[in-house]
Amino acid sequence: MAEKGKVCVTGAGGYVASWVVKLLLSKGYIVHGTVREPSDEKYSHLKKLEKASENLKLFKADLLEYNTLCSAIAGCDGVFHVASPVPPTTVVPNPEVELMEPAVKGTLNVLKACTEAKVKRVVVVSSGYAVMRNPRWPKGKVKDETCWSDKEYCRTTENWYCLSKTEAETEALEYAKKSGLDVVRVCPTLVLGPILQSTINASSLVLIKLLKGNTTCTLPNVLMMDLVKQGYSKVYIKIFFRLYVVLT
Ligand SMILES: NC(=O)c1ccc[n+]([C@@H]2O[C@H](COP(=O)([O-])OP(=O)(O)OC[C@H]3O[C@@H](n4cnc5c(N)ncnc54)[C@H](OP(=O)(O)O)[C@@H]3O)[C@@H](O)[C@H]2O)c1
Repeated sequence: MAEKGKVCVTGAGGYVASWVVKLLLSKGYIVHGTVREPSDEKYSHLKKLEKASENLKLFKADLLEYNTLCSAIAGCDGVFHVASPVPPTTVVPNPEVELMEPAVKGTLNVLKACTEAKVKRVVVVSSGYAVMRNPRWPKGKVKDETCWSDKEYCRTTENWYCLSKTEAETEALEYAKKSGLDVVRVCPTLVLGPILQSTINASSLVLIKLLKGNTTCTLPNVLMMDLVKQGYSKVYIKIFFRLYVVLT
C-alpha cells in the first residue's frame, strides 16, 4: 500500500488511542504515537500491532511539556488528540492538577504545536460529558452542538471530569476560531468493547463492575446490550477516522 502520510496520535497507549493507532497503521499511515514513558511495559501492545515495526514511532511526550509535543507532531499532516486524564472514580483529590491542567492546557499545547507544524487537520476527542450536564436544557429536546455542559453546575456538583472535558472543548473551539486551524471535535459517550492494552481503563472498568454485579454502577439495560453487541469502540474509531479523511 502506498504511504498515506504521517499522523500523530496523542496518548497512543490508552484504550481509545490504541484502536486509533491500529486503524491508522492498517490503512498505511506512518504513525507518531505519544506516550509518557516509551520503555514502560504497558505500551508493549502497540509494538505488536500489524505494521508497527515499520510504521509506528513512539515519542516521549507529556501534555504539559510543549516541546515534547512539538517533536512528535513535527512533519505530521494530521493529529488525533486523544490523551486526557480519565479518572476511574469521581473522587479526585486535586482536580486542578490531576484533570484540569492536562485536559485544558494540554489541549491548547497540542493545538499550538499543530499550528507550528502546519498540520492540516486535528481531530480532538472530547466527550458526551461536555454536552450532557446541562440542567437548563429543555426536557426532551435533542442535545446538539449548541448544548454544552454547564461549567458552574459541574463545579458545584464536583464533576471534575465533566468540567475538564467541557473546558477543554470550549478552549479548542475558541482556538480554532482565532487561529484558523482545522479542528474537528467528536463527543463519544461511553466507549466499550475489546481492549488492546494490558491495563484496565475507566470505561472498561464500568463494564467489569456491572458484570460483577456492582449495584452502585448502573446503565439502562437496552443501551448496555446495544453497546456490547456492536463493540462500540470500533464504531467510534471508524467515525474519528472518517472525520479525518472524508472531510479533507
Ligand atoms: N472511554 C470512554 O468511554 C470515553 C468516552 C468519551 C470520551 N473519551 C475520551 O477519549 C480519550 C481517551 O480515553 P480512554 O478511555 O482511552 O482513557 P485511557 O485509556 O485512560 O487513556 C487516556 C490517555 O491519556 C493519557 N494522558 C493522561 N494525562 C496525560 C498527560 N499529562 N500527558 C500525556 N498523556 C496523558 C494517558 O497516558 P498514560 O498511558 O501515560 O497514562 C492515556 O494514554 C479521552 O480524551 C477521554 O476523555 C473516552
